[in-house]
Amino acid sequence: MQYFKKLIAVRRVEPRDDLITALVKAQENDDRLSDDEILATLFLLLSAGHETTVNLIASGTLALLEQSDRFLQLQQAPDLIEPAIEELLRFVCPAETATQRYAREDIAIVGTTIPKGELVLAAIGSANRDAKYFDNPDRLDFTRENNKHLAFGHGAHYCLGAPLTRLEGQIAINTLVRRLPNLRLGIDPAQLHWRGGLILRGLERLPVSF
Ligand code: HEM
Repeated sequence: MQYFKKLIAVRRVEPRDDLITALVKAQENDDRLSDDEILATLFLLLSAGHETTVNLIASGTLALLEQSDRFLQLQQAPDLIEPAIEELLRFVCPAETATQRYAREDIAIVGTTIPKGELVLAAIGSANRDAKYFDNPDRLDFTRENNKHLAFGHGAHYCLGAPLTRLEGQIAINTLVRRLPNLRLGIDPAQLHWRGGLILRGLERLPVSF
């Protein structure tokens, strides 16, 4: 928030041809956006709209490098990219948990009662590897028949950016596979670091060679 507050102040003095300037201008033409609204919009775009997709591309690339037969499969059959991205969304799950919910009433789930008013975090990453639902859940399989994953959530709050993410993921991964056929992991996998935090799952860095 502090980072964005500074950036908004800078754009106000030195406008550019960019989104933050457009939001600031919208505010100044008849005060349609409050400071809080600009901040909330930028925060949403950075975390929900940017980091998630970045993580899909990086974690997805790692999965392909660790399972080079899948990398080769995509090289040989680029038409598989749509199911491949769906499978990578299930497999790497960039949003590990949903945002918080609160139980509206006491509810029993598999022998545990969640009392009314308690915080509930749905573990999407776990649901996406549920062996009761997916065959061989830990296998990366681009020809999986049932792939109704929950990577974008479910119901009323289903991800607004799902079509954009699918498109970005398909373009990025297919381009990488096509243009860098010798792409390799640049370090020992044991040295990879995942960023902390509960909701977003992603690598700090993905060193590669090509
Ligand atoms: C790999 C990429 C992405 C993943 C895994 C992802 C995941 C999710 C999930 C799980 C939810 C539901 C959260 C909940 O119910 O608590 C959600 C909601 C949302 N996402 Fe995404 N998202 C991605 C990309 C994007 C992009 C690119 C945008 C916008 C440009 C975006 C905007 C939103 C918004 C606005 C919501 C809230 C929708 C609502 O509450 O009605 N997401 N996303």
